[in-house]
Formats: sequence, C-alpha cells, structure tokens
Amino acid sequence: MSESMRVPEAEVDPQFPERWSPRAFSPRPVAEADLLSLFEAARWAPSAANSQPWLFLAAVTPEERARFLALLNPGNQVWAREAPVLLFVLTRRRRASGRAMEWGAFDAGAAWMSLALQARKLGLFAHAMGGFDREGIYAALNIPVEEYLALAAVAVGYYGDPALLSEEDQQREHPSLRKPLRELFHYGALGEE
Ligand SMILES: Cc1cc2nc3c(=O)[nH]c(=O)nc-3n(C[C@H](O)[C@H](O)[C@H](O)COP(=O)(O)O)c2cc1C
Repeated sequence: MSESMRVPEAEVDPQFPERWSPRAFSPRPVAEADLLSLFEAARWAPSAANSQPWLFLAAVTPEERARFLALLNPGNQVWAREAPVLLFVLTRRRRASGRAMEWGAFDAGAAWMSLALQARKLGLFAHAMGGFDREGIYAALNIPVEEYLALAAVAVGYYGDPALLSEEDQQREHPSLRKPLRELFHYGALGEE
C-alpha cells in the first residue's frame, strides 16, 4: 500500500493524512533547534484550565538512549534503537491545589500530536509507543509515581532504510488506512437518527 491510498473523504490539510508512524529510522542526529521546535509545538497545545500537565523526557545521548530503549517492549526495541531521539510523555496526576488532573491524558495527547505534526514540517517523523515498561519506568527514570503518569514513548528522527527492518516490520512499514469518515461521528444522541 502506498501513501497515496490515504485518500481523504472531505477537504483537509494534507499534513493530516501525510503524518504516519514509520519504524525505519535513520541514525542521522536531530539538531537541537529542531528538537526545541517540536517541544515548542507541544507547548501551544490546549489543556483543561491551561494546566499544561505534560512533561516530555528526552534521550539524545547514547547513554540516555540506551537507558530509555531498555524500557521499551522488545518488539519496539528492535526498530526504535535506530532513532536518534527517544521521548517519554508524562502527564501530571494532580493540580497544584491537589485536585485530580482529570483531563491530563487528553491534554498530553493534544501536545504529542502537535509535536508529531511539527516533526513532519521539519522532515522528521514521530512514532508513539504504548509498549514500554509501564511499572518499571518510574524507578528507572526517577519519576515520582504520585506526581506523574507515564503515558507513552515516542521515537523521533529522519526516515531510514526500510530494508534494514526485520521481515515482520518491513511488512508493516506503510501508512495505515482508516475507518470510513462516517463511522467516527454521530449527529446528536446515540441511538437516535
Ligand atoms: C498511544 C499509542 C500507542 C502506540 N503503541 C505502539 C507500539 O507500542 N508500537 C508500535 O510500533 N506502534 C505503536 N503505536 C503506533 C500506532 O500503531 C499507529 O499510530 C497507528 O497504527 C496508526 O498509524 P499511523 O500513526 O501510521 O497513522 C502507538 C500509537 C499510539 C498513539
């Protein structure tokens, strides 16, 4: 399947269907200014009461990348090891007042998507992963578990050589399709037309 099969069903900016999550990353480094640009995009995401509950942990040095990589599930490690930047996306569990941050995951999701779209603008790709050690990460990276919830990992980098992927990952290395547009929304209350 080629990227051209991602055919929109309504008018939309091409940046949306053109963003996808590859596994073939090049080890080419990401300039620090570009990394800052990704976080800047995330910074402007909307959040409940402008609480900005997200926190991105970034690994760019070989030592830190190895530390982050070890927390990924084996199936993610095999391809994510090439990515020059690994991130973990955290969200605060509580507001300063102590009240629960009820929309933290929603807000951090918006921030990650902003980062992913900005990555494409810079010729980079961002691939999110839920497959990581969701219990072990707190001790491994000194994250106070009562303060933060670790939501996802993200590999960031330039596109690499898909021929270097495992056979299984080569099969999966293409932009995915979507459900029909009409299946993702409903006018009015459910069960009523
Ligand atoms: C929260 C989340 C968790 C994901 N976990 C993984 C993962 O552990 N491993 C992986 O290879 N891809 C993972 N993905 C990537 C999805 O499979 C991918 O986004 C989805 O198939 C849609 O494809 P696209 O991003 O290329 O449009 C994850 C994506 C999200 C948003």
